Order: sequence, then C-alpha cells, then structure tokens
Amino acid sequence: MKRIKIFAPATVANLSCGFDVLGCCLDTVGDEMIITLSSKPGVRITKIQGADLPLDAKKNVAGVAVEALLLKYNGTAGVDIEIYKKIKAGSGIGSSAASSAGAVWAVNHLLNNPFLPHELVAFAMQGEKLASGNAHADNVAPALLGGFTLVRSYDPLDIVKLHTPQDLVMTIIHPQIEVKTSDARSVIKQNVTLKQAIHQWGNVGGLISGLFTEDYELIGRSLEDVIIEPMRSILIPEFKNVKKVAIQQGALGCGISGSGPSIFALSKGIDTATKVAEAIRQVYAKTALDFDIHISKINNQGVKIIS
Ligand code: HSE
Repeated sequence: MKRIKIFAPATVANLSCGFDVLGCCLDTVGDEMIITLSSKPGVRITKIQGADLPLDAKKNVAGVAVEALLLKYNGTAGVDIEIYKKIKAGSGIGSSAASSAGAVWAVNHLLNNPFLPHELVAFAMQGEKLASGNAHADNVAPALLGGFTLVRSYDPLDIVKLHTPQDLVMTIIHPQIEVKTSDARSVIKQNVTLKQAIHQWGNVGGLISGLFTEDYELIGRSLEDVIIEPMRSILIPEFKNVKKVAIQQGALGCGISGSGPSIFALSKGIDTATKVAEAIRQVYAKTALDFDIHISKINNQGVKIIS
C-alpha cells in the first residue's frame, strides 16, 4: 500500500504590496495529512479532525484539487485522504491552501512525480476557487515551492521562486474572528489610480530586490500597501495599534496576512520576532478577543514528508 504522512504548511499571502502575487511559507504552523493510493478509483475524504469541513470530495478543497490532478493524469488512480487540521479556517494564513497544496503534492509524490511543481500549483488553485470563489495562487505557490514566491502571471500561469534571506522570522497574531476571503475580497474597489499603482509596483520591485540582495532595510521599506490595506484593515480589530507596536519593537514591516484577520510582522532575527510577539500580545490582551500568536522561520521547502 502506498501511503504518506505530510506536513502541509501555513502561508502568508500578499506580503503587503503584492496582492494576489506574493506569498511566503511558514515552518512551524501547518496541518498534517495522510494520503493513501487505493486500487478503487476516485477521491475519498476518509477522515477530518480539528475542523468541521465537508467529507464530500467534491465540496472539499483537497478533494477538488486532487480530482483536477487525476483528470490530467495518464492512468487510473484512487486516493484516500485524511486531514488533521491545525490551521483554523478563515484565519488568513492559508488554511484552504494547505489542504489543497498538501493533497496534490502527496498524490504527485505517490504517483512518482508525473507533474512539475507549477502544474501542481494549477491543480491546487482549484481548491482555492472552491473556498473563496477565486483561483488565486499566492498561498498555494509558496506552500508547494517553499520560501517566497511571485505569481508573475496568471494567464499563462508563471510562478517564480524568490530568494529567502536566512534571518527573516514571521510573527503572526490571529484574532479569533472569522473573516471570509470572499467577504474580504468584496470590500476591495476594482479600480486603482495611476499614482497608487506607481507606489505599489515600486514596493513590489523593492521587496523582491531586497529578498535577493538580503537587504533587510529595503525589505522593510517595501512592506507597504497603499491599495488593499486601507480598505481591509477596518475589518481587523486593533490593526493600527498592532502595527504601531510591531514597528516600535523593531519589526521590518507589518501588514494583513492574506485576507485577514491574521496580522503578520516580519523581523530580522528570532529575538526581535519574540519581542514583537510580546508587544502585540499586550495589545490584544486588553481586548475581549481570544487570539493565537505564532512565531515561525520561513520554510524554504514547502510541503514536507513526516513519515
Ligand atoms: N490574495 C488573497 C487575498 C489571499 O488577499 O484575497 C487570500 O488568502
């Protein structure tokens, strides 16, 4: 029997300036999945622990992503999927992406890698489409490729893996309110001014250059979003205060993780990331909201085999 247990990582999409195109992969936050090849054709979700998600493969993001893969696969295969959710749905750190990306990565591995990583991104995007109504790739690409990724183009799909400076550490705060990606997308205006676009693409270029040259100051200056953050941050309690204290404690930058409500702060070194975590914990401790805080290095590998 061909069976594999994997770690399916959480991810931070957008990274302030790169709405729908930039993302990075986390190391210590993620789901576990057990994928088994079966002689019985079709996709079955046999177990879900840790979340109330559909067992019907056609309504489950992992099921839909694997079905898309099997449709292109030159052969017959059956797949049984067990999902152990640790990432909360609607948290903004790529919960649906972890399930979609983890499932297609594991099935591809068990089938002896008939598909290339960028083809897996396209299959996993089908899961994102089911989850949010939009097939964005900025969570599934870093989950599959690891590190920082850029979606250079959606049509045709062109994914670029960027460089990961060793010292970058993420601090994430997840206030326990649910912000659906579809709702967070519906508050966004469809048009931007040329002035905003100039500001934003300057930052995208700056961030990518800063990653490749390991210029932490440039990374910090470029973590700025003049388009989406002003519209979405009103959905997130204490956003401004969290950002203020994170920067005061030395974070390079701070913004909304994906579509929220999680907030990320990127720091140089674990000591700064820990100080940032403590400061934002104090901001949220004054509210009535429950929250989780994660500190994670960047995972340059993506999905990992556990056993
Ligand atoms: N780019 C997507 C959005 C990511 O911001 O809507 C969702 O996690």
